[in-house]
Amino acid sequence: METINTSDYQALQIYLRDACGILLRDSARDLARRRLRPVLDNHQLTSIEELLARLDKPGRSGLKEAVIDGVTMSESQWFGEAAVFSLLGDQVLPDIVGRNPGKRVAVWSAACSTGQEPYSVAMLVRELSEKNPGTLSEPRVLATDTSRSALEVARRAHYEIGPDDTGVTAVRKERFFRSIEKGGWQVSPDIRALVEFRELNLLQRTLPGKFDVVICQNALVYYSAEKRKAILARFHAALNPGGYLIAGSSELTGDMTELYEPIACPSGTAYRKK
Ligand SMILES: C[S@@+](CC[C@H](N)C(=O)[O-])C[C@H]1O[C@@H](n2cnc3c(N)ncnc32)[C@H](O)[C@@H]1O
Repeated sequence: METINTSDYQALQIYLRDACGILLRDSARDLARRRLRPVLDNHQLTSIEELLARLDKPGRSGLKEAVIDGVTMSESQWFGEAAVFSLLGDQVLPDIVGRNPGKRVAVWSAACSTGQEPYSVAMLVRELSEKNPGTLSEPRVLATDTSRSALEVARRAHYEIGPDDTGVTAVRKERFFRSIEKGGWQVSPDIRALVEFRELNLLQRTLPGKFDVVICQNALVYYSAEKRKAILARFHAALNPGGYLIAGSSELTGDMTELYEPIACPSGTAYRKK
């Protein structure tokens, strides 16, 4: 598939919007072509038109999931956006443990992809508790995603770490990873033990428990304002009193103030449950 023609792309946009609430931007056409190429190959399809004709047919198990996986993209980074981790370390965690010293903080990484985000959270809490002994206990991190393939990578916890992974400093590499003989690095067992991975679709109503912090980055951006509003209300229900939502600014819907009190910090805004 060299290109996706305009009418096929529009049909794909309409399908994803109506069936899944996903907004595929006009400007993402070439990216979508690259991301869907392997999906077409794996399912022996030759065009987007053929793909659309098969999407909801019985006997095409995994096709719809593979398309959603492809277009919502599973890239993730260690210690993601630096600002988000500063918010967590400088504002959110100190506020929570200031109110409940020694607390075992429960964190939900709500679109965890291949695991870098929840493992980074576990590493950060470990670092903070070592710096300030007696303040924070080991965290409990629940990490969820819809993508089974991303969750498999996350559970394996085996990564290539390159020069672009600036969040993994030499100290962190030494402290939180062990090198694998065949190449690459695996997250150490003590950090892995803090993170539980589970398949969960944010569009469904399931709440996986109660948390002090919900982190959702780079996922809601694909959804319509209406779907995002419903998901943000579910995050609110999943938060303990005074708990925080940390989300990228592009994930949020216009008016959050009914549910959350925005806490502005030098590194960004965190949203505390009202
Ligand atoms: C770009 S990754 C973001 C990963 C991580 N949060 C980060 O910022 O590094 C987007 C992830 O959102 C997940 N996702 C998209 N829609 C979802 C949904 N409805 N429910 C759960 N996960 C979803 C995708 O499977 C993908 O792994």
